[in-house]
Amino acid sequence: MSGEKQVIDTDCVTLTRFVLEEQRKYPQATGDLTQLLNAILTAIKAISSAVRKAGIHQLYGISGSSNATGDSVKKLDVLSNDLFINMLSSSYTCCALVSEENENIIHVEDKYLGKYIVCFDPLDGSSNIDCLVSIGSIFAIYKKETPGPATAEDILKPGNQLVCAGYSLYGSATMVVLSLGQGVNGFMYDPAIGEFLLTEKDMKIKPRGKIYSLNEGYEMYWDEATREYVNSKKRPASGKPYGARYIGSMVADVHRTICYGGIFMYPATSEAPKGKLRLLYEANPMSYIVEQAGGAAIDGKQRILDIKPTSIHQRCPVFMGSREDVQELQELYKKHTA
Ligand code: AHM
Ligand code: MG
Repeated sequence: MSGEKQVIDTDCVTLTRFVLEEQRKYPQATGDLTQLLNAILTAIKAISSAVRKAGIHQLYGISGSSNATGDSVKKLDVLSNDLFINMLSSSYTCCALVSEENENIIHVEDKYLGKYIVCFDPLDGSSNIDCLVSIGSIFAIYKKETPGPATAEDILKPGNQLVCAGYSLYGSATMVVLSLGQGVNGFMYDPAIGEFLLTEKDMKIKPRGKIYSLNEGYEMYWDEATREYVNSKKRPASGKPYGARYIGSMVADVHRTICYGGIFMYPATSEAPKGKLRLLYEANPMSYIVEQAGGAAIDGKQRILDIKPTSIHQRCPVFMGSREDVQELQELYKKHTA
């Protein structure tokens, strides 16, 4: 035995404690947001557990197939969506939900009606699910200001009106990163006690990074601004080139960008003139967090959070990360559209 004492923090800040303390700063707060976030955390814990043992429990199979014990098995993405919908719609805090997996708005039953609207991608990074590469869940929370059921108008709000956004990353550990509009904090999951513990306080993105991140296989479809930008990072007039990293899971690529700096891009292409990523539950929540961490997020022309949505599944080009890197790209967009 070494003489070292093991330090156990008996006064740790759980995510729930953190949110409760934040809400206390607002005398009019009802505790509903804490309750809503607890519902999301239950879904995230269940998804994390399923991701960790998915192989063993044959969760990769076709939706609805059976496992060895004869129980019906759901694919991870279906399971994740069901968990988000069921936990949120029974939490007494929501009136409407928008999921990447559901074509239409999900209206919450009258008996459970609350004032929040949640847009989410229950399991992002679909191409990485079957090969054990990091994936994540993303959520964006709005408050409905008027009583009664939610209308399309209540839901199609720009991201600058978000009250909270977050993501969970199922990587080498499970982490939740959250912003309530007062900076960004990260909570690592401790499976031993089933709690998310505050481990990354007030996360900040460097003003400039050394990494660019996009799917370079689509270069032949890029516009001139993206092409010139990436070329300038690979063959700089002076100094060293940037490194390239691309996981293909937005949560993992953006999380790395927040931790190490640099720029994450999913540009418009000639094949997909609006890009691939969805505004309501991918671009907006991740932009909110990146901005809250001191970074920037644009669609090339404008701030993503200022886009007024016109439909729930609309797409938008995405460039986000270190402020100076994003600014440099925006200059090229100005030049090429002048
Ligand atoms: P998904 O919602 O089907 O998982 O698609 C979104 C994902 C993002 O996580 C990621 O940034 C992007 O698709 C990767 O797309 P591509 O394979 O075209 O590079
Ligand atoms: Mg997605």
